[in-house]
Amino acid sequence: MTSVSRRLAEAAERIIPGGVNSATRSIGSPWAWKSAHGATITDMDGVAYTDYHAAFGAILLGHTDERVNDAVTRAIADIDLVGLGTTELEVQAAQLMVDAIPSADMVITTMSGSEATFQAVRLARGTTSRPYILKFQGCFHGSYDALARNVISTPDRAWRRDPNSSGILDDAVDHTLIAEFNDFASVEELFAQYPDQIAAVILEPVPHNVGALLPELSFLQGLRDITRAHGSVLIFDEVITGFRHALGGYQEVCGVMPDLTTFGKAMGNGFPVAGLAGTAELMTNFTPAGGSVMLAGTFNGNAASMAAAIATITVLKDPAVDFYGHVYRLGDRMRTGLQAIADEHGIAARMTGLGSVFIPYFLDGEVRGYRDLLRNNDVAYATFHRRMIDKGSFMYPMALKRNHISLAHTEADIDRTLAQAADVLPAMAREGLFETAKAAV
Ligand SMILES: Cc1ncc(COP(=O)(O)O)c(C=O)c1O
Repeated sequence: MTSVSRRLAEAAERIIPGGVNSATRSIGSPWAWKSAHGATITDMDGVAYTDYHAAFGAILLGHTDERVNDAVTRAIADIDLVGLGTTELEVQAAQLMVDAIPSADMVITTMSGSEATFQAVRLARGTTSRPYILKFQGCFHGSYDALARNVISTPDRAWRRDPNSSGILDDAVDHTLIAEFNDFASVEELFAQYPDQIAAVILEPVPHNVGALLPELSFLQGLRDITRAHGSVLIFDEVITGFRHALGGYQEVCGVMPDLTTFGKAMGNGFPVAGLAGTAELMTNFTPAGGSVMLAGTFNGNAASMAAAIATITVLKDPAVDFYGHVYRLGDRMRTGLQAIADEHGIAARMTGLGSVFIPYFLDGEVRGYRDLLRNNDVAYATFHRRMIDKGSFMYPMALKRNHISLAHTEADIDRTLAQAADVLPAMAREGLFETAKAAV
């Protein structure tokens, strides 16, 4: 780390706890950023990286995309936030979202994914008058008390009591039950144990907060059937998968329809906007429609966020742009290329992911659920990402964190990154970094 970045990072540390405004931005090096354009991020010392971190997936078209920025600039020249009634921008954005998301009759917009999942849980509890939520080990749904548990848990705490924070009431933690992804029996057991008490089942349809667990269709269908049979609400948290894997999110890909969908991140290409969509039957339980579930948020529907969402979705829908064709092609090129390098050097690896997301698991055997991820060589995973940063490809240097490709990435970017990996992976193999495979759990 050279001088300018270090000085700014140190100044931040004096007045911002840990020097960052979100815990996972602290990654052991005092990074400070000057600019972000397209697929490139540049630090305060002028060092440029090809960005695969993409702000945890919030950047879908590429950084500071002109189409989005221009739309925001035009919108805020006329209106910012009145905080009464509605605006043309809000109605237009809501229409685009309802049209895009197959299970949506109605939609609300929020400022963050955490607010969206919070609203979804409260709506499910308020509608069913039931206390319990069922989530899956490894899924992350934001910072809300009822959901902040059991994400990347150590083996001794996985599936057991593992809150992500102090300060959460025991009741909030204990009213969220934990099952294993792709293991339908673990869900059936909890429904048998808590009959008529589970308000909602919430999941990332592809758990990207632990890389990419690819869902089995029978598992998702099973969740749809069991929630329907028990009168529980099925919530797909598509904050990462929404708009990224298909315009209609992963539900469009798999054909299984949830009752509620949360989304956010990529929809605003870096501007703060998220939302909750669902059936009219559920969504009309919010207070503005005469229901009993509170809906409030000063900044909800502000002009900048709405304009960003409208512009981003418009680009995603443009056949001339072919966003999905582009990122799926580049994603496949990256996964295939990385796997070939690993195979050539006898490295036990699963270069997996979906579409624009690619993941280098370093393990033997298949990956179905969190149980399998306990075999991942976390040291190799983090080391690979850190050494790729040194080569110029920015990959978040922590085990199980995912990499993202945007519309701004090119085939040349992918090939350059593969050439870098072709140096890094064999060097790691020579150092014996892949020989510490973990025992199966
Ligand atoms: C699947 C999922 N849901 C919800 C959230 C929370 O979103 P936000 O950080 O915008 O509050 C995240 C954030 O990473 C997420 O990955």
